[in-house]
Amino acid sequence: MMQELSDWLEQTALHAFFADTTRLETWLIIPLSQTIHILGVAVVMTAIGMLNLQLLGVRVTKQSFAELSAGWMPWIWGAMAVLFVTGAVQTIAEPTRELMNDTFRIKIVLLVIAVAITILYRAQVRKDPQYWERSGERRTAAFALASLSLVLWLGIVAAGRLIAYVGAIEEL
Ligand code: HEM
Repeated sequence: MMQELSDWLEQTALHAFFADTTRLETWLIIPLSQTIHILGVAVVMTAIGMLNLQLLGVRVTKQSFAELSAGWMPWIWGAMAVLFVTGAVQTIAEPTRELMNDTFRIKIVLLVIAVAITILYRAQVRKDPQYWERSGERRTAAFALASLSLVLWLGIVAAGRLIAYVGAIEEL
């Protein structure tokens, strides 16, 4: 199925446009999207870092988790939108390199789980602003989730960087 999707993408006008390196304006698209992608990574990792450190007991600010997460969520969703668009541009430009790459697939699976945890954080504090800070049991659950979330996001960054190398190794 991924091979079919990849073959289909390679027939599209959008692929021809993004993959066209003969003209400066199209040649710039990929390096520009890679640069913006990395800036998006910096924003997401900072915001996610602030939330998880707070749940790990490293109080970065005097704010409650509900206040802190309310401030950072727009940055997370904004940067995720940028990462999705720039990632999609790079995927349309080189569909086989990405879609047929196990590291890319692992990255997307880790991303779905990490985003689900972030949504859970907010869903609970919307119902009860003190949810993650209310009791010892909740704090233990928050600590476990924050540890998992941090490992997942670091895994996403590592997988994102490794795509280029694993792809090259498979071609050997
Ligand atoms: C939202 C969906 C996302 C998509 C579709 C996506 C897609 C991609 C693609 C296609 C590449 C280029 C890989 C290559 O060919 O070398 C890439 C690179 C990368 N991605 Fe993502 N990505 C997404 C989200 C993220 C997130 C959330 C992070 C981390 C928080 C991330 C971190 C990275 C990193 C570190 C690289 C390597 C950049 C480089 O060194 O050039 N990506 N991503």
